[in-house]
Amino acid sequence: MRLILLGAPGAGKGTQARRISAELGIPQVSTGDILRDHIRRGTELGLRVRGYLDRGDLVPDSLILDIVGDRLGREDCRAGYVLDGFPRTVPQAEGLEALLERMGQRLSAVVALETESEALVRRLSSRWTCAGCGADYNAMAAPVPDRCASCGGVVGQRDDDRAETVRHRLKVYEEQTAPLILHYEGLGRLRRVDGLAPVEVVFRAILATLG
Ligand code: AP5
Repeated sequence: MRLILLGAPGAGKGTQARRISAELGIPQVSTGDILRDHIRRGTELGLRVRGYLDRGDLVPDSLILDIVGDRLGREDCRAGYVLDGFPRTVPQAEGLEALLERMGQRLSAVVALETESEALVRRLSSRWTCAGCGADYNAMAAPVPDRCASCGGVVGQRDDDRAETVRHRLKVYEEQTAPLILHYEGLGRLRRVDGLAPVEVVFRAILATLG
């Protein structure tokens, strides 16, 4: 199964990708997680991309395509993967198509999580993340602890989850990523799921679209 999860910031791509990964036994490939890991480790790539993430702008396509090319070429991706946060522009989608052709692979499906902006601003302003293991806490669902229940790490808010940065990320999504919906619809690959439903309902709906 080679699956793309498309959706605005906060639509639930990461939440659903983790569940699909566990259910289907395929890795979650999140470009956002890979970039944040480089920033945390202070690598050269991390230093180059930090400003883009802090502002809520997209990292240049060429850097992202190099990262994804490297990741999808690894052994654990042979049987499939779920792409979370990639592609995000039409050139990235075209780059992915070229990469898949070189690897002799085909996409299985593209699932779009449909949402609306105000709900996403609320979700992301309430999201807290463990600095140690990346566990997700959301103040709308339950009180957020100071320390992570899984690893004891410090729980804090992502710099780009401040309300004004979230609004900028949503604008960037509308301008640069939303056109991918038409792109994949035109290729006959798109399936739509209501991303505002409860997490479990969204998960079941995604599995149902995969047949
Ligand atoms: P990235 O990390 O990909 O961020 P994003 O797309 O903005 O996605 P989020 O992680 O904010 O949201 P999500 O859709 O995964 O939602 P989640 O499941 O966490 O990218 C960050 C930055 O990296 C970008 O701005 C850019 O700079 C750079 N970047 C990354 N990829 C790039 C690329 N390909 N090209 C260029 N630049 C790139 O859920 C959000 C919250 O809502 C959580 O608290 C969750 O618990 C809650 N929630 C989820 N689902 C539900 C539900 N159904 N009901 C209620 N609450 C829910």
